Amino acid sequence: MRKAALLLMTLVQLAPTPLRASVVQQVPLPVGKCVNTGNHLETPSEDANGQKRLEAADFVRIRAAGFDTVRIPVDWYKHSASAPPYRIEPKWLDRVDEVVRQALAAHLHVILDSHNFNLVHSNPAEGSPWLGEVWRQVAAHFARQPTSQLWFEIENEPHDKLTNANLMATLGPALAAIRESNPDRPVVIGGQNWSGIDSLATLDLPDDPHVYATFHYYEPFAFTHQGAGWVNPSPPLGRHYGLPEDKARLITDAAKVDAFVARTGRVPFIGESGAFESVPLAERADYLRAISTSLAPHTSGLCVWAYTNTFPMWDHVGGHWLPGMLEAIGLPGEKPSKSK
Ligand code: GLC
Repeated sequence: MRKAALLLMTLVQLAPTPLRASVVQQVPLPVGKCVNTGNHLETPSEDANGQKRLEAADFVRIRAAGFDTVRIPVDWYKHSASAPPYRIEPKWLDRVDEVVRQALAAHLHVILDSHNFNLVHSNPAEGSPWLGEVWRQVAAHFARQPTSQLWFEIENEPHDKLTNANLMATLGPALAAIRESNPDRPVVIGGQNWSGIDSLATLDLPDDPHVYATFHYYEPFAFTHQGAGWVNPSPPLGRHYGLPEDKARLITDAAKVDAFVARTGRVPFIGESGAFESVPLAERADYLRAISTSLAPHTSGLCVWAYTNTFPMWDHVGGHWLPGMLEAIGLPGEKPSKSK
C-alpha cells in the first residue's frame, strides 16, 4: 500500500505541469520604455540596401536616450537546419550573441525573440518540434546571462493556424526546452491574430510564474499601416489620427488590458506599437503620445516599433533622433547641440 502510494506520489510529481489558465501573483516584467530593433536580425539580409547594421554604438545611444529595454527580433527559422537536431548556423548564433552582448553591455534589458518562424504559423504541429529544438540551443547558449537582464520571447505574433486554442500545445515544447537550462528566465508569450489586443481575452498562459504576457498595438490599422507595401490591400494614405472614435477606442482597449490583468494576475506589456513612415512625422508622434499616455500606463511597458530601419525613431542617415518621437513616449529628447 505504502509503496504504491509513494509510487503514485512520485508519478504525480514527475508528470509534466499541465498547461492551463491560472491566476498568478506576478511582479510585472520591468519593460518600461523599450524600442524594437526592427528590420535588422529578422530580415532576409542584415546588410540589405539602405538597412543599418546594428553595432555597439546603437545600444549606447538607445540607453543614453533613456530606454530601459530593447526587443531584438531574430529570424532563427531561416538560420537553422530543417531536420533534427535543427542545428542553428554557428555563424548566426555568433552574430546574435554579439548583438545581445552589445545591448547587455549598454545596461539595457533585452527581449530576444523568434520572428518569422513561418512553419509554426502555417503548420503548428510540424513547426513545433523545430521551434522547440531551436530554443533548446538558444537557451543553453545564453543560460549564463543574468535573468534580470535577458528575457526570451518564444515566437512573435502568432497568426494563421497558430491560435490561442493550440498556442501552448505548440509553444510548450520550446518552453520546456528553455526551462531545462533556464529554470527561472522570464519568457514572453503573445496570443493569436498577430498578438492584437483582442488576443488577450482568451490568452491562457501556463502555470509558470516566469511566463509573461504581451500584445501588439497598431490600432487603428487604417492609420498606422497606411501605404504599407507588405499589407494587401494596403490602407489608403490620408487617414488622420485623433478622431473621436480613436479616443473612445483607447478607453475600451485599456479596459481590455485591465480585464486581462484581473483574470490572470499578469500585467502584459506592449511589444510593438507605432505608425509607418508614410504617416507624417508629427502625426506619428501624436499617435505614440496617445498610446504612451492612455494605454501604456495599464501595462508594464511600451516597445515602440522601431529603432531605425523601419517605422524609425532614429535617423541613421542624418544621425539624429527624429524630432518629437522620444518626447512622445515620455523621454527627455535630444538637445539640438547633440543632434549629430
Ligand atoms: C511585425 C512584422 C514586421 C512589421 C511590423 C509592423 O512585427 O513582423 O515585419 O514591420 O509588425 O507591421
